[in-house]
Amino acid sequence: MDAEGKEKIKDDKEISRIPVGELKPGMYLHDLGLDWLRHPFLTNSFYLDAPSINKIRQLGVDHVWIDESKKVEQDKVEEKNSEEAVRSKQGKRPKSKKVVPSLEQAQETTLEARETVQELFRGVYHQEEFPNFKGLQSTADELLTSVANNPAAMLSVGRLRTRDGYTYEHSVNCGVLMMIFASFYGLGEYHVRTLGIAGFLHDIGKVRVPNEILQKPGALTDEEFTEIKKHSSHGYQILKDTPGIPEKALEVARLHHERVDGKGYPDALPESKIPFEARLAAIVDVYDALTAVRCYKDGMTPTQALRQMMAEAGAKFDQNLFKRFIKCIGVYPPGSIVRLSNGQLGVVENVSRENSAKPIVRVVYDIEREEHIDPPRVINVSRENGLSVISSESLTDWAFLEERLLVSGNSQAHVNG
Ligand SMILES: [Fe+2]
Repeated sequence: MDAEGKEKIKDDKEISRIPVGELKPGMYLHDLGLDWLRHPFLTNSFYLDAPSINKIRQLGVDHVWIDESKKVEQDKVEEKNSEEAVRSKQGKRPKSKKVVPSLEQAQETTLEARETVQELFRGVYHQEEFPNFKGLQSTADELLTSVANNPAAMLSVGRLRTRDGYTYEHSVNCGVLMMIFASFYGLGEYHVRTLGIAGFLHDIGKVRVPNEILQKPGALTDEEFTEIKKHSSHGYQILKDTPGIPEKALEVARLHHERVDGKGYPDALPESKIPFEARLAAIVDVYDALTAVRCYKDGMTPTQALRQMMAEAGAKFDQNLFKRFIKCIGVYPPGSIVRLSNGQLGVVENVSRENSAKPIVRVVYDIEREEHIDPPRVINVSRENGLSVISSESLTDWAFLEERLLVSGNSQAHVNG
């Protein structure tokens, strides 16, 4: 340690251990020396500004690691952090043991995640002293790998629903959708993972809402609706009292029902006060809820849900964010059943880079000839002259094709972006 209280550990990178009291805006934080679940920041390394220095002071750490070779002027901090985010998108994809997880692997990962979330919700419901929040971190890591390497497979698998597993399926789907979008949006790995966790936990407050209200098939009375609305505050409270939950997950649990028209709950916040993560959660929450099958209803097709949300986008959702969401998952998201203009029926395997309304489709049936297409063919609609998608279809209308339409392919393509 030198006379200034700084300790150089690697001369080539100029990493120094600096007392928190000496931090200044413009310094580059190399490492907080804390597990990622223990601090509220989106990434582990970034340029410091006054608010982030304040937050570090509140964490109760004495020293942090600073890369002194990367110091910038105070007014360049925001710009430099944005550049880092872009670089992170380009270069820091998580590595997978297997380069492209197959649909079957994506399914396995998703089912395991649903079990973890179910166990966690149960633990909180039974007020266990240490519900398995830690397990969420490894679940998030597993999903992060699958989302990075085959987001289309993860979207397709999310379409597989049961009538009685709504809460867990919805929670995992929201986490996965948030991760897919965050990745598409160019956010760093840490932020993507944090959003995944925020998605898994956004509705955890529902464990404190009476089951008969949650499961009620018909319209809710005013009193019942008031009871349901409390879940966002309950969720915030549960997570706040749990050590190690990222601050963004608390925010999402509390604010995912706020709406940009200022008519949401619990605080009826105006758009400018709703954080990005909560605006994104609002979109994925409604999208997934509309497409879910429940004990009392069939779900909309993804395209129907997007259309309905588009009609409401200006009033309820962040319009720009919603447009980007559609660009990310496509007009016909993976897993959608589509009828093509040549009379063939298929399932969307992936979004096409060329045109988000002309996906990559595995065609399995010729509707006009009433014949199976054997073996099924994978075509990129955007590359077939004159071919287009004319409608999205419901699986219930094609139940006899169920096996052929559900997960069985293994496209290596990507979600648009
Ligand atoms: Fe909710």
